[in-house]
Amino acid sequence: MAVGVFDSGLGGLTVLDAVAKRLPDVPFVYFGDNKHTPYGVRDAEDVYQLTTASVERLWDEGCDLVILACNTASAAALKRMQESWIPPEKRVLGVFVPLIEALTERQWGDNSPPREVETKHVALFATPATVSSRAFQRELAFRAIGVDVEAQPCGGVVDAIEEGDMILAEALVRSHVEALKRRMPHPEAAILGCTHYPLMEDVFQDALGADVKVFSQANLVAASLEDYLNRHPDMLGLGAESSFLTTGDPKSVANKATQFLRRKIEFRHVEME
Ligand code: DGL
Repeated sequence: MAVGVFDSGLGGLTVLDAVAKRLPDVPFVYFGDNKHTPYGVRDAEDVYQLTTASVERLWDEGCDLVILACNTASAAALKRMQESWIPPEKRVLGVFVPLIEALTERQWGDNSPPREVETKHVALFATPATVSSRAFQRELAFRAIGVDVEAQPCGGVVDAIEEGDMILAEALVRSHVEALKRRMPHPEAAILGCTHYPLMEDVFQDALGADVKVFSQANLVAASLEDYLNRHPDMLGLGAESSFLTTGDPKSVANKATQFLRRKIEFRHVEME
């Protein structure tokens, strides 16, 4: 009974950490496609091919339910996967919807028509692929009206985090926040629309100012996964053990993961084209 958690690299560990804390009895299999990271500069076809190959690998590990703990994959590939690729006995869930439901003050699964919400000026920080997909705006439009979204593609931040260069990552975050503020000087809320960015959340908050409410996904996704599993206990799958898989170099990925999560993590290498 394992649940799969997928990301292009290390960012999904922010989600893994939150879901594992919230659901301590559920085994999770983490899959980081570190060999092909970053996804955020790839085109939609490429992201689709890499994401479907990774999700299949998690199905092979006994995970019938897979969380795409990656906004880029959720934005660029999930809709197409759900329309024509996922077999009826499997589920793949993205990380966008819980975040948008929180921003628009909705209960999970409330599909009533869009309505006015309190927050009117929202800054979105995400990878170039997520920004250009406009998936965030599309999902928001189903739930809220009159919200002005200014999106900042944060080139380079994921690469810097994957390389463990946190000084460069901080400098890039500050310059992306500055760039956004030139176009939207007073956002009320900011969305960290990439699962790598919670690793830099303090820097985002500092650069944005204390009066901006920063939404990040990990805890929201964990709460909505708990709710989902209560309603669909049969989706727990057959896998029984937690494990960490990577298409990259397991030693170097494990070192960075250990540094980020502040607990020892071992990765197993898996081959992928
Ligand atoms: N962490 C991922 C996301 O949430 C992927 C970033 C990337 O590979 O560029 O978008």
